[in-house]
Amino acid sequence: MSRIDRLIAAMTLAEKLGQLTMTASSYAVTGPVLAGDSTESIRNGTVGNLLNMVGAAHCHEMQKLAVEGSRLGIPLLIGLDIIHGHRTQFPVPLAEVATFDPGAWTMTAREAAIEATADGLAMTFAPMLDVSRDPRWGRGVEGPGEDPWLGRRLAEAKVRGFQGKELGAADSLAACAKHFCAYGAVTAGREYASVDVSERSVQEVYLPPFEAAVAAGVATIMPSFTDLDGVPMTTHARLLRGWLREKHGFDGVIVSDYNAIAELMNHGIAADRVEAATLALKAGVDIDMMADCYRHGLPTALERGMVTMDEIDTAVRRVLTLKERLGLFDDPYRRGRKADTPAAILKRRRLARDVAARCIVMLKNDHDTLPLGSLHKIAVIGPLADAAPQMAGPWGAAQEPEKHVSVLQGLRNALPASTEILYAPGVEISGEDTSGITAAVTLCDQADAVVLCVGEAAYMSGEAASRAYLDLPGQQRSFAEAALTRAKHCGKPVVVVLFSGRPLVVPWLVEQADAVLAAWFLGSEAGNALSDVLLGSISPTGRTPMSWPRALGQVPIFFGERPCGRPFNPKDHFTSKYIDSPNDPLFPFGHGLTYGRFVLSNLRVTPTQVRETDIIEVRVDVVNEGARAAEETVFLFSHDKVASVTRPLLELKGFAKIALRPGASGTVTLHLPATELRFPGLELTPVFEPGEVAILVGPCADRTKLLVASVQLAR
Ligand code: NOJ
Repeated sequence: MSRIDRLIAAMTLAEKLGQLTMTASSYAVTGPVLAGDSTESIRNGTVGNLLNMVGAAHCHEMQKLAVEGSRLGIPLLIGLDIIHGHRTQFPVPLAEVATFDPGAWTMTAREAAIEATADGLAMTFAPMLDVSRDPRWGRGVEGPGEDPWLGRRLAEAKVRGFQGKELGAADSLAACAKHFCAYGAVTAGREYASVDVSERSVQEVYLPPFEAAVAAGVATIMPSFTDLDGVPMTTHARLLRGWLREKHGFDGVIVSDYNAIAELMNHGIAADRVEAATLALKAGVDIDMMADCYRHGLPTALERGMVTMDEIDTAVRRVLTLKERLGLFDDPYRRGRKADTPAAILKRRRLARDVAARCIVMLKNDHDTLPLGSLHKIAVIGPLADAAPQMAGPWGAAQEPEKHVSVLQGLRNALPASTEILYAPGVEISGEDTSGITAAVTLCDQADAVVLCVGEAAYMSGEAASRAYLDLPGQQRSFAEAALTRAKHCGKPVVVVLFSGRPLVVPWLVEQADAVLAAWFLGSEAGNALSDVLLGSISPTGRTPMSWPRALGQVPIFFGERPCGRPFNPKDHFTSKYIDSPNDPLFPFGHGLTYGRFVLSNLRVTPTQVRETDIIEVRVDVVNEGARAAEETVFLFSHDKVASVTRPLLELKGFAKIALRPGASGTVTLHLPATELRFPGLELTPVFEPGEVAILVGPCADRTKLLVASVQLAR
């Protein structure tokens, strides 16, 4: 008999349900406060999993209660949201995606895992893989942006990073692919709202990142709070049991979201906790996070024959198997035993800085305003200029905000003593007080250049942070307009450093500024990374993973739209358009300038007659005609021109980077397996249809900037 069989045979019902229960401690608050002290429940075996613990000593103290104090000595599984770093904060995921560098995605997850496991943790609730095409939704900041192909790459890289080579290693965390699925499509971008999307979109857009996470061996999955076409994901048997477990062989743990099982009553599909618990368990949810429906509902459900002991045992077995895989039975204290060395911490900060610099997207740079040359005086103004605690972004239970670097501090660190730095905040991020505007704006007169730091506060994105207005909050617009007008009047260039957890809708700001950097939330090293780019020691390489709208009315906006019968034609009134705005975004997916100037030419594709088993080789020449060394990102898209169902106008199929000195040229080679040209056909099963497929290559998803070739698919 295996250890797990023996345990299950020895467990009481209450102990079994304890293994299916996850309760929050009060070290971090990531949802409504619902739990009290769990010490007694851990000791009597009725709580088997914890979230929101921080610190090795605390984790070990709780672990000791379970292992040495409970009847069966089953170790606890302790998890926390380590979304973009633990103590050291890395850039928010959306920013990191902008690096288009899977190696970096893995490295930051690995470092976060090393740091978090040193703190005693064994599980993270990440990566978040919800494709998001609606910047009103605040949680877009946690995920891959608007494209499913990118979501797949992010899933693989993050799972690899968090889980390391072997789940049982002392520095490995169990990852959790969340939120399964289509959470990004909440109605009107409003947090937690209902989701109603087509089965085709579910298959083509929302599921692929989860498929990739499962293929990469993700240990756990979290269903989203939301319903999908009337079925709450927490009870979605067809997708949880059918798609995940049966079709894709996922045999890990499904953990509910925070209180989500109890919320089935609000969804209106369960009358009480007994029904709620029954529905979730039957759909395949193993752990009840914070709702306490399993402990309180399943005994009655069992009595009434609504669930079977077998179903409960199956879930218990999965949880125990995860604990075994994590090595917790062999040594429950293996995580948190070894503190980080100062050298490791330093290395992590360096990585944080390096990756942060590569996340920055230079949206605009007229007249080569950036990088800033040598300056006598620089004005660093705005409410986000000296806002160290804001730099990390929305998640970070264990962050140490006093160690974050603001823009002002970053510039102070980097500029020579001979450069005078003038600083004033002007206004608060979201306050209404305008009394500081004049003093800040006046600094523009004296300075050689102005760095205007504006945008959102960290809490304005993330969970429960949908916004209906995507302009600058508070009085920042009045302030920024005053500063821009004044600077223009006295001929001073203005560089806007724009902080946000999403694309903002600020065409007026982009129009008036000389240069704009999308700074997202860059983590602990934000200010140093920004000064690296502002002063030119690093050429920006970031590319936006979401389209930036011109107007809120364009939302949802994304490059992968399907064609329509009346595509926009300026000469024909009855075509698809707005009468008061262009259709295209202000900045398309993939947009991002560098300090170089790249020209692409000579697109070659072989073979041109393609069978399903082929790998298509795509090559393009790139020359840097600019005056500075820089790195270009080249995107590969496809478009299936005539198919049995309408196909997106552009589908992302790859990207590559090339670093070139001024005047240098090189060739970028991309490989496209023809299987990637399959799509769900009329019956929603994958098909590979003969016919012409366009291959498009270029610097972003703006069709006018893409080189085009084509291949013929043949059976
Ligand atoms: C609710 C969030 O939706 C989820 O992403 C998170 O992991 C849990 N709270 C736990 O904090």
